[in-house]
Amino acid sequence: MLLVLLSLAALCWSAMPGEPTIQCGSETGPSPEWMVQHNLTPGDLRDLRVELAKTSAATEDYSILMNISWILRADASIRLLKATKICVTGKNNFQSYACVRCNYTEAFQSQTRPSGGKWTFSYVGFPVELSTLYLIGAHNIPNANMNEDSPSLSVNFTSPGCLDHIMKYKKKCIKAGNLWDPNITACKKNEKMVEVNFTTSSLGNRYTVLIQQSTRIWFSQVFENKTKRSSIAILVTEESEGAVVQLIPYFPTCGNDCIRRKGTVVLCPKTIVPFPPDNNRSVLGGWLPLLLSLLLVATMVLVFGIYLMWRHEKIKNTSLPTTRLLPLIKVLVVHPSEICFHHTVCYFTEFLQNNCRSEVILEKWQKKKIAEMGPVQWLTTQKKAADKVIFLLSNDANAMCDDTCGHNEDSPSENSQDLFPLAFNLFCSDLSSQTHLHKYIVVCFRGADPKDNYSALHVCPKFHLMKDAAALQTQLLCATQHMSVGKWSQVCHSSCSPL
Ligand SMILES: *[C@@H]1O[C@H](CO)[C@@H](O)[C@H](O)[C@H]1NC(C)=O
Ligand SMILES: *[C@@H]1O[C@H](CO)[C@@H](O)[C@H](O)[C@H]1NC(C)=O
Ligand SMILES: *[C@@H]1O[C@H](CO)[C@@H](O)[C@H](O)[C@H]1NC(C)=O
Ligand SMILES: *[C@@H]1O[C@H](CO)[C@@H](O)[C@H](O)[C@H]1NC(C)=O
Ligand SMILES: *[C@@H]1O[C@H](CO)[C@@H](O)[C@H](O)[C@H]1NC(C)=O
Ligand SMILES: *[C@@H]1O[C@H](CO)[C@@H](O)[C@H](O)[C@H]1NC(C)=O
Repeated sequence: MLLVLLSLAALCWSAMPGEPTIQCGSETGPSPEWMVQHNLTPGDLRDLRVELAKTSAATEDYSILMNISWILRADASIRLLKATKICVTGKNNFQSYACVRCNYTEAFQSQTRPSGGKWTFSYVGFPVELSTLYLIGAHNIPNANMNEDSPSLSVNFTSPGCLDHIMKYKKKCIKAGNLWDPNITACKKNEKMVEVNFTTSSLGNRYTVLIQQSTRIWFSQVFENKTKRSSIAILVTEESEGAVVQLIPYFPTCGNDCIRRKGTVVLCPKTIVPFPPDNNRSVLGGWLPLLLSLLLVATMVLVFGIYLMWRHEKIKNTSLPTTRLLPLIKVLVVHPSEICFHHTVCYFTEFLQNNCRSEVILEKWQKKKIAEMGPVQWLTTQKKAADKVIFLLSNDANAMCDDTCGHNEDSPSENSQDLFPLAFNLFCSDLSSQTHLHKYIVVCFRGADPKDNYSALHVCPKFHLMKDAAALQTQLLCATQHMSVGKWSQVCHSSCSPL
């Protein structure tokens, strides 16, 4: 009866008008064609497949059926095809056998569908039992004559058990608790107690809850015959965090063999003082807000104290340069007389004073002294006093830069002697000696370079301004550390050595 009803569903197969569809009905006995002699018969099927199909029944009893699909072979014999017969043998505790015959509504006019694909049909029927082997055979009608090879195709299909995502809807599986979601949560309340929560099922009335840690097991039972969130405390004697929780239900259909559910013991969300006697807890509860506020005040005082110390430290740090003067670097700057004094020498002097903690010695500022001592004596004295001697070169010679900067102690009208060649010749012997060379630096403005007659200067460290300003600054500041702090000498020596 069921098969007939289901075959009606197959009747509703929608198709283009004129395309063959199937009409299936039960035919467990031999087909009428079997009795007749055929000169020509169609070939066998190309493919046969079986899968599970869940019918969305209105009732809660879901029927799980076979969805048998087959593909016709695309050859000329398809014109003779009238029907396909499918027989299913079930091998469980008892053997079952049933066949359906699917008539094609039209004769096949082409070997493939008008849309191009192979002729494919499917029949949904044959109720499926749990964990059963099915032998499914199919052959075309009219079938071969007696004593002839009958082309047929067969496949085996073993239905899964209740754990399958479709089979779990079998009534038997539902009764065994397959659709039951206990949603187990378990947490370690303290060293001696684990709290397990789970949802009971209306299917049964008894549950065993096990806590399993390596070889140790602790358990308790729960009695409840309704669907309800239940909570149980289980006493343990060992560390329980990470232990396995097993929930064993006892439902009538499966008894002791119902599907067990598992969970893991985690730490309970809020930390609870382990086993405080009730009166202690209430006393502690009364004092707790006070203790907490005291703690808060203490923390704030501590933070403020740390802040004050930090500020003090910071002030000390920032005031360091003003309170402790570092020695100035004495720098003797010599330059050719044609260099634009205002634009280049003054500018460079300012740079040294502002950025390199330097005390600059300039010929122009000491005309009176030079006149008194004589240029050679003055240069020799200044060279001894200076930490660094800078040869300043520039390409900016022109008439428009005769102003002086700062230290206006000399008469502006004085015609000045060019000290540069004299200084060069005087210091030349130092340039060839490694021990004195570190004192000399060449600074070039606007792409200038030591001229041919001063080629000895090429051995000195050379800086192009403003491109190499930072490097020059480092070189000069190293000079003081070199002379004031012994341990810096090594570092500075290497960075100040001639290139
Ligand atoms: C299929 O065809 C056969 C022979 O013509 C007929 O006996 C049977 O009732 C048909 N089955 C269905 C479901 O139409
Ligand atoms: C049956 O199987 C065929 C082929 O895999 C598929 O097209 C069809 O939708 C299935 N029917 C059901 C009810 O699952
Ligand atoms: C199907 O199962 C039967 C019985 O176990 C076996 O004899 C047969 O070889 C199987 N056929 C296929 C195609 O696996
Ligand atoms: C499981 O229980 C937790 C805690 O009671 C809840 O938040 C969660 O939504 C539940 N999950 C399901 C699938 O019922
Ligand atoms: C168990 O349920 C109780 C009461 O419903 C709740 O207070 C507790 O937090 C739950 N424990 C877990 C581990 O979900
Ligand atoms: C459920 O349990 C209660 C008490 O534990 C009992 O009175 C009731 O009859 C039980 N119901 C069923 C359907 O077993």
